[in-house]
Amino acid sequence: MPNQEISRRMLLQAAVAGTAALAARPRGDIRADGGGASVPAALGGQPVRTAPFPRWPRFREADEQAVLPVLRHGVWSRAQVVDEAERQFAHLMGGEYCVTTCNGTNALITSVRALGIGAGDEVITTPYTFVASVYPILLADALPVFADIDPDTWQIDPAKIEAKINTKTVAILPVHIIGGVCDMDRITAIARKHNLKVIEDACEAHGGEWKGRKVGTVGDLGCFSFQTGKSLTCGEGGAILGRDRDLMDRCYSFHNLGRPHGSVASKHGEGYPIVGSKCRMAEYQAAILLAQMQTFEAECRQRSENAAYLTEKLAQIPGIIPRKDYAGVTRTAFYYYGFRYQKEPFDGLSRDKFLGALAAEGIDCDAGLGVISGRPINKEGCLEDAFRSKAYQRLYPPETFANYSADNECPHCDQLVEETVGFHQRMLLGPRQDMDDIATAVTKIYENRRKLVEAT
Ligand SMILES: Cc1ncc(COP(=O)(O)O)c(C=O)c1O
Repeated sequence: MPNQEISRRMLLQAAVAGTAALAARPRGDIRADGGGASVPAALGGQPVRTAPFPRWPRFREADEQAVLPVLRHGVWSRAQVVDEAERQFAHLMGGEYCVTTCNGTNALITSVRALGIGAGDEVITTPYTFVASVYPILLADALPVFADIDPDTWQIDPAKIEAKINTKTVAILPVHIIGGVCDMDRITAIARKHNLKVIEDACEAHGGEWKGRKVGTVGDLGCFSFQTGKSLTCGEGGAILGRDRDLMDRCYSFHNLGRPHGSVASKHGEGYPIVGSKCRMAEYQAAILLAQMQTFEAECRQRSENAAYLTEKLAQIPGIIPRKDYAGVTRTAFYYYGFRYQKEPFDGLSRDKFLGALAAEGIDCDAGLGVISGRPINKEGCLEDAFRSKAYQRLYPPETFANYSADNECPHCDQLVEETVGFHQRMLLGPRQDMDDIATAVTKIYENRRKLVEAT
């Protein structure tokens, strides 16, 4: 989601504008005249900050020490180290069973297959997500149905889900987007009422909690990503958590070419009793994951503390609306720190110009989901591509697609895609002074909004 490449490019452009950092201002020091004394870095002034923010991923000697024995041992594909990583990840998340995968996308694909979701089935999900939440549905020849988001929390709105349920609906796939947490009480209540499965996409939400329970352990299955940018990473990797032993056996078997596992047995002992794929985690990935788990809790705490401090500051600036959490959220995961940027209080300064001005002040930032294609997933070309495919044309009557776009309009999501501003979780891993710098830079842009509008 957050595109570090773009942020880096903006930052490099900004670095040309100046070198010395300005001292952070005291809280609440926002000038109302729109003509702050300092010159914005975008207009040739000194940037608030020139020091880099923390890098990600981070590694210590412990990571090197964990990987080297695996490399030397010579068994690199799935064996005991992966088994141990599954045990420890399940423990860390308070989950019962864990199957790791080569990435989060395949954790979701495996989950969809293990639940038997397929042609003609409908799965309700959110449009405000990364495309990998929806591909598993399309790859199963099932139909994604989009329920709009809650404008305050940015998560799928439970109030919008029930109207989308019909006799073909088999599952809800809530996504704990940017590390926020969905309203799992209402989602699971709806699922129970209509006999639907719940697959949590927790790929961005390691460590997030709903009423004390870690996300990914509340639904039938929970999927995680350990891709480079994620708050728990081993470069590439994924995991599925679940409580149902037989279902988890199916996940294991699917991720291992459909070979027998537990209750997935072959009449002939060995062989391939179910259709599978091969998406196993490698031993050296698991070794890194085990090492990274050691620092995970401390990093979560630091992100939460910094984010809470920053939210207090940003919420005082007109036009800056930090994302909110439901009352049932006992911990936010902060994969990405996001807020809405509303241009009206900034005298009409466009979001692109705001982002440019912020980058010029030395703050790595981007437009979140909008940075990738500028459109939400319910409007992505891959849907049309799938619907034109031989499988969909044969499986679904033409009227399925006649009103698909109109039926899947999600105006709250559209607006959020236009307004999102934020930055990657690594920015929350520095000292509190870093948060002051971010707030100072946003304040400086607000104070100089008129100059910025007039100059560009
Ligand atoms: C919400 C969401 N779902 C799924 C994925 C897929 O994970 P991966 O990149 O590990 O395949 C990602 C991460 O990129 C994600 O952000």
